[in-house]
Amino acid sequence: MGRIIAFISGKGGVGKTTLVSNTALVLNKLGKNTIVVDGNVTTPNLSMHLGIPLYPITLHDVLKGDVNIKEATYIHPTGLKVIPGGIGIEDLKGMNLDLLPESIFSLAEDSDFVLVDGAAGLGKEALKSMEIADDVVIITNPDLPSITEALKVKKLSEEFNTNVMGTVVNRINKRKTELTDDEIKSILELPILGKIPEDPLVPQSIHKKIPLVNHKSNSPASIAIKRFSSNLVGEEPILESQSIFQRIANWLTK
Ligand SMILES: Nc1ncnc2c1ncn2[C@@H]1O[C@H](COP(=O)(O)OP(=O)(O)OP(=O)(O)O)[C@@H](O)[C@H]1O
Ligand SMILES: [Mg+2]
Repeated sequence: MGRIIAFISGKGGVGKTTLVSNTALVLNKLGKNTIVVDGNVTTPNLSMHLGIPLYPITLHDVLKGDVNIKEATYIHPTGLKVIPGGIGIEDLKGMNLDLLPESIFSLAEDSDFVLVDGAAGLGKEALKSMEIADDVVIITNPDLPSITEALKVKKLSEEFNTNVMGTVVNRINKRKTELTDDEIKSILELPILGKIPEDPLVPQSIHKKIPLVNHKSNSPASIAIKRFSSNLVGEEPILESQSIFQRIANWLTK
């Protein structure tokens, strides 16, 4: 039985989909049988991050009871398995979120990892992902509004008896106003599993519909995501050789 890991933030827009899509690709490259699911049911956009063309069968058809989740599996050109969400308004009508747990558990039966992209906020969809996961990774930005919501995610996950692995701090830009690592650790009382710098190549990769680790595998955020993802599964990161200029740039943004 594979592990189900939900990526949740509380506050929206902090980088969950960016992290989960790239992490899934890294785990797949490390040889782990990985499935990534768009658990952001009301505003799904995982498929856009992964550059998936409109796929005829989606998680929404599963949640309407029309198909089995295995029929909604899209195989990405890299071999990664993806359960996309339906992006049309009609997709939203008549879904039953209570069908989600059984579907996700069935995916875990034949995989090493099921990664769930959580919804923004702390509504029913985000809570469902937290409830059914074995582990939660909390994504935050280094600011008070995100950390406040991250703390709520931690407490809610604990209420569900779901293990919280730690937090990933995204969009670090060394501004004076940013919370420090020590402040984040003392507020959340969690280990920091990853520190991802602000990187203009992230929006560029989304615009190009090529996930960052494939688009610019040596960019600062890409390297940080590869480190986090490899640590998550206890493996050494696969880092390509870099020019001296790239190494200096990465060191400066560490
Ligand atoms: N490290 C980064 N550097 C620069 N921009 C980033 C970084 N991470 C995320 N972004 C930008 O932040 C925006 C939101 O990212 P993303 O969609 O991954 O967040 P989210 O938490 O999944 O949002 P939502 O809660 O709406 O699902 C994107 O436009 C992305 O380009
Ligand atoms: Mg998202």
